[in-house]
Amino acid sequence: MKPKLILALALSSLAVLPLAAQAGPIDAQLATYKAAAAAADAQFTAFSAERGKAFHNRAFGGGKPDTPACASCHNENPRAAGRAPTGKVIEPVALSATPTRYADPAKVEKWFTRNCKEVLGRACSPQEKGDWLTYMAGQ
Ligand code: HEC
Repeated sequence: MKPKLILALALSSLAVLPLAAQAGPIDAQLATYKAAAAAADAQFTAFSAERGKAFHNRAFGGGKPDTPACASCHNENPRAAGRAPTGKVIEPVALSATPTRYADPAKVEKWFTRNCKEVLGRACSPQEKGDWLTYMAGQ
């Protein structure tokens, strides 16, 4: 191969790298939830950060009385630290405040399962998860 061609190939692969890095794990998870939301509801079009915010702060009646909302533990302001009833401090759930969050899909699912049951008394729908994650990704 000619040196110039090698250089051109090397440069073009470098140019692709930052683009690939931008599609972070949270985008991949949102894409998964989006497919699930569309499969569950033909009317579904897109996630909404506004709905996610309302969901975060809403007091549900179906779960544990001392933690009626996501905000009960995660703080109404997602950029601020939260606190569990045990007193344990929880790092902020806003992605900008805790950039290490939502990197592990298994962790995200584990906590959605546990926390939705605790707050709503049922599993969260794919749309509820996607709305909430969209809200946190934009904070
Ligand atoms: C009883 C307290 C409590 C409530 C209520 C609660 N959470 Fe959590 N949540 C935690 C704890 C503790 C963790 C794990 C520690 C951490 O990630 O900082 C966590 C972690 C998470 C994670 C994983 C974050 C990551 O970094 O991957 C998600 C997603 C999550 N919660 C969503 C929710 C949603 C949605 C609600 C409301 C339906 C909710 N939580 C309500 C305590 C709570």
